[in-house]
Amino acid sequence: MALHVLILAAGQGKRMLSSLPKVLHPVLYRPMVHHVLDLAQSLKPQSLGIVVGHGEKQVREACASYEGLRYYVQTEQKGTGHAVQQAAGFLKQQQGRLLVLYGDVPLLTKTTLDALLQTTGPAAVLTAELSEPQGYGRILRDAQGRFTAIREDGDCTPEQKAVREVNSGVYVFDLAALLPHLEKLQAHNKQGELYLTDVVERLVAEGASVQGIRMQDPTEMFGVNDRAGLAQVECRLRDRTNAYFLKLGVTLQDPSAIWIDPRCRISSEVRIEAGSQIINSRIESGVVIESGCRIIDCEIGAGALIRQGSYLQQSAVGVETTVGPYAHLRPGTRLGKKVRIGNFVEIKKSTLGDGSKASHLAYVGDAEVGEDVNLGCGFITCNYDGGPEKHRTVIESGVFVGSDTQAVAPVKIGHGSYIAAGSTVTDDVPAESLVITRGRQITKPGYAGKYKR
Ligand code: UD1
Ligand code: CA
Repeated sequence: MALHVLILAAGQGKRMLSSLPKVLHPVLYRPMVHHVLDLAQSLKPQSLGIVVGHGEKQVREACASYEGLRYYVQTEQKGTGHAVQQAAGFLKQQQGRLLVLYGDVPLLTKTTLDALLQTTGPAAVLTAELSEPQGYGRILRDAQGRFTAIREDGDCTPEQKAVREVNSGVYVFDLAALLPHLEKLQAHNKQGELYLTDVVERLVAEGASVQGIRMQDPTEMFGVNDRAGLAQVECRLRDRTNAYFLKLGVTLQDPSAIWIDPRCRISSEVRIEAGSQIINSRIESGVVIESGCRIIDCEIGAGALIRQGSYLQQSAVGVETTVGPYAHLRPGTRLGKKVRIGNFVEIKKSTLGDGSKASHLAYVGDAEVGEDVNLGCGFITCNYDGGPEKHRTVIESGVFVGSDTQAVAPVKIGHGSYIAAGSTVTDDVPAESLVITRGRQITKPGYAGKYKR
């Protein structure tokens, strides 16, 4: 049967005290709603929609990369039933089932949803047994244990409040069963809202049987209502992600202090030290990432060593290359095999061939550096003259660049050349040349005394 998915995300999230819509607050480096969208897409639904309201424009912009996503605008938030009503016009023309998810419940897994989708019948609800059920809708059952209704916390009798089985807010409905009831919802409750949960009660009253599927892991239904909830959800997702990588043979020195984006691909025999963050990156076997590194959108080749405090963005690091401590690889950096990048070196939009080195205090920007090049301490590419464009520096293989040298781009240093320390290279250098641009040293023996008293 065709599956349609609808994500409710129109609420303001007042308790976040934020101008950013709640569903856009990041959880492991991406808007929390992206986790829900990815999960929904993994089910390969016939249609995927989102109900937006507060911060509609921002939410649309943040979700622009999701092609085919249908937006339904709920200008006034009159409850979860009212939210689903916004999609009714489209859903009436469809057949099959509707899965309802929330944009602020990002921890659900595909395994759990698969169990829900295994059910047949007019409706099924994911439920969980909580030791502290306050705030959630309670699952009411009759003497035979059959599902009868979902009652909101505020509408519960003291007896009902004692029920520990709660509504996760995730349901699957047969569209033909849902739509007639959706239209007829009424705001007969303390909050004066149209509750989607009332559809369940109406179906039961009609004689239909509704299934409650209990979740194995109740933390999957954690929703974000405030900043404490956000922290709780993010820590939970971190723990789950880290547990996954530990199982794959990745060493995490302190799993509670290492943050890995679930999109990363990390091979076994990788060691990651405390305080490091790895975002949307691929890390090959044998890599060691020392403490306090942040690695974003990178590919790190086998056996590389990323030393303490390094910051890497959109870069590729070759096999057995060493970076840091305290190095900065900016977007577009490509390092070959066995390259050595040392402390306080910044590299941007540049390629360094196999075996090349920039071991101390350098800036390499918009450069193409060949193999086995030595860039001495304090080397700088002067790639910017204040105009509209940056200029390129080409340094061919086997070049030795002495310390405290500048290359004023655009400039090319030919194969095998030798640039003396302290030089400012402004003109192209033919292969195998020696360049010295500094003034000659003058030594006056015995003069030192003139300056001493
Ligand atoms: C809802 C359920 C409750 C369940 C809980 C689980 C109802 C009536 N109650 O309560 O049984 O235990 O979720 O978390 O459904 N939203 C809209 N438009 C609206 C109202 C809400 O898009 O008009 C969205 C919100 O952005 C949010 C989700 O729906 O993502 C849930 O809304 P919320 O107000 O948090 O529902 P709860 O009161 O928590
Ligand atoms: Ca909620």
